[in-house]
Amino acid sequence: MRPDRALDRNQDRGGHPRASKYDAGHLEQAAALLDRLSARGRALLGTRTAIMGGAMTWVSERNLVAAISNAGGFGVIATGSMSPDQLAAEIAATSALTNQPFGVNIITLHPRLRDLCDVCIAAKVGHVVLAGNLPKSVDIVHLKDGGVQVLGFAPTLGIAQRLVRTGADAIVIEGAEAGGHIGPVSLNVLAQEILPNIRDVPVFVAGGLGRGEAIASYLEMGAAGCQLGTRFVCASESIAHPAFKQAFVRAAARDAVPSVQIDPRFPVIPVRALANEGTRRFMEFQRTVVDRFNAGQVDQASAQLEIEHFWAGALRRAVVDGDVENGSVMAGQSVGMVRVVQPAAEIIQDLTTQAIVALAERLASRDAAV
Ligand SMILES: Cc1cc2nc3c(=O)[nH]c(=O)nc-3n(C[C@H](O)[C@H](O)[C@H](O)COP(=O)(O)O)c2cc1C
Repeated sequence: MRPDRALDRNQDRGGHPRASKYDAGHLEQAAALLDRLSARGRALLGTRTAIMGGAMTWVSERNLVAAISNAGGFGVIATGSMSPDQLAAEIAATSALTNQPFGVNIITLHPRLRDLCDVCIAAKVGHVVLAGNLPKSVDIVHLKDGGVQVLGFAPTLGIAQRLVRTGADAIVIEGAEAGGHIGPVSLNVLAQEILPNIRDVPVFVAGGLGRGEAIASYLEMGAAGCQLGTRFVCASESIAHPAFKQAFVRAAARDAVPSVQIDPRFPVIPVRALANEGTRRFMEFQRTVVDRFNAGQVDQASAQLEIEHFWAGALRRAVVDGDVENGSVMAGQSVGMVRVVQPAAEIIQDLTTQAIVALAERLASRDAAV
């Protein structure tokens, strides 16, 4: 095809590029392409789609995890501060609701980390996601010796390379757009830094993903799959309090903000959550603690502890009790794309359809250009 004709078909009257018209053939090719692009992620997880439901403390329990896995995604139980017995019960209850693969997320700072790992090994859980600090290689090896595949979070290329060297089976890169505890760098930048350089193991992308078009783009860049948290909070099967879900449905991207530290002497771990009365009181609270420290009324370690304790139990208060004004309403920037409460299967279907349509449009414009 001559370039001028390609221009005709790909530009609107104003000369702006337009999405090319795709047909049933393009959709079929696009679905096959999506399968190819996500093959490595699906093989690792043993699932129909390479969409992981990111573990969310208090939210990702048996009901949501099983619903995601039954819908062809990969549900992940959030261990949070569960005891080993509680985790064993949660795994058994989840297995009763699904015969599809699911994983367990364990925070490496948990005082009974090794016991939690042993529970997963005994229950023959296929995959453990180690979150929090950089996991120790002894813990990775222990899980792998027990027949468990291990996924780790990499906030930098160096850490991703180290995780691969210590035996991690897959990496998750999570951008600062995500809900919950966050690093400083966006997924856009992490993906450019890490995807071209980590080829030995599958890499899953997370943070700010709300639609399938974005997922398709990251797969084309070399990601093996993706992990979404915020979108699944409003799954019908999620046990989050109705007030928590409504806060998500109402919120815009700009409402999901990181916690702010007011004094460099008192570090605050950044957590992305919806701005509310709690986040405003947190600022005032830090100010009063710093004033008392400056006046010599409290020592530095105690002041730091007071600040850290401000949010103790706050996620539970929001998710379980529905106190969305004073609790911590952890949410990613993709919250603006959460419009309704809908079944997990519908969320996964929507994401998949959007990814296929995006790829079909690309195939159609390629055809239009030849
Ligand atoms: C309410 C909430 C709780 C979370 N709790 C955890 C957790 O316990 N462990 C963890 O590794 N990640 C946790 N996350 C992060 C998610 O697993 C996931 O990586 C993140 O939500 C992805 O970004 P997105 O929110 O933009 O989809 C949490 C996220 C949210 C929104």
